[in-house]
Amino acid sequence: MKKIEAIIQPFKLEPVKEALKNIGIDGMTITEVRGHGRQKGHKEVYRGQEYNVDLLPKMKLELVVPERLVEAAVDAILKAARTGKIGDGKIFLTKIDDAIRIRNEERGESAL
Ligand SMILES: Nc1ncnc2c1ncn2[C@@H]1O[C@H](COP(=O)(O)OP(=O)(O)OP(=O)(O)O)[C@@H](O)[C@H]1O
Ligand SMILES: [Mg+2]
Repeated sequence: MKKIEAIIQPFKLEPVKEALKNIGIDGMTITEVRGHGRQKGHKEVYRGQEYNVDLLPKMKLELVVPERLVEAAVDAILKAARTGKIGDGKIFLTKIDDAIRIRNEERGESAL
């Protein structure tokens, strides 16, 4: 199993969700986040205090998927989330050791 963490533009959330649904992905967690990539932006000083004015709203999707669906899911996200301009976002992959459905203690891929 792998966890796919995708940071995307907020207006791409619906197309990405739809693309994932179409390849049979069920569970996911979505969080509104703020961040920046390598363009960073600038810090603003106001009354002696530094403020970040460069953190832009993004959506974070987290989904744990069986190994056989990883490439298809990444592909679906890439295609649905890309505009080709800066700030399109990023995908991070990590290995997941186990998953447990709390209701019935199913484990591993059956818990997804
Ligand atoms: N190295 C990173 N670690 C964690 N989050 C990141 C990282 N890079 C980018 N992000 C997140 O992804 C969002 C979008 O990043 P972004 O697409 O601007 O990356 P980039 O490297 O600047 O690429 P681009 O040049 O295409 O803009 C950021 O706002 C931030 O939330
Ligand atoms: Mg950027």
